[in-house]
Amino acid sequence: AATLTRVSEILAAHDGMEGPLLPILHAIQAEFGHVPQAALPVIAQNLTLSRAEVHGVMSFYHDFREEPAGRHVLKLCRAEACQAMGADRVAAHAQKRLGIEWHETTADGAVTLEPVFCLGLCACAPAALVDGRVVGRVDEARFDALLAEVR
Ligand code: FES
Repeated sequence: AATLTRVSEILAAHDGMEGPLLPILHAIQAEFGHVPQAALPVIAQNLTLSRAEVHGVMSFYHDFREEPAGRHVLKLCRAEACQAMGADRVAAHAQKRLGIEWHETTADGAVTLEPVFCLGLCACAPAALVDGRVVGRVDEARFDALLAEVR
């Protein structure tokens, strides 16, 4: 209930704004660390959208989380320059090591794995973001070292 009260306050703060959906989703995620399921119908009703439309926007932008994140968030760049430098291989390795897919969190709640699209570090591809810190030249060994660091 406290969640929905806060969601209503956020909606009220964006009342009358042009194109309010993205700012609202960002504000809710900033508040809760994710966009709670329970918020979706409230947002949809407030903006006269369907739940599916709100959900569609959330999944189109890779920024939004539907579940709370783990204690550490590892983001691997999936954009072109990093792809060319073996980002796919590193991603496959990461998923195997962690036993999770994109947007999932390890069972112990330690690590969430997310894709990201260009970190502006293309010269040091493949790039990653570890709890908000940019790291370059992430090959499989570097990934394992990063993982050991956060675990
Ligand atoms: Fe990965 Fe630019 S493409 S950092």
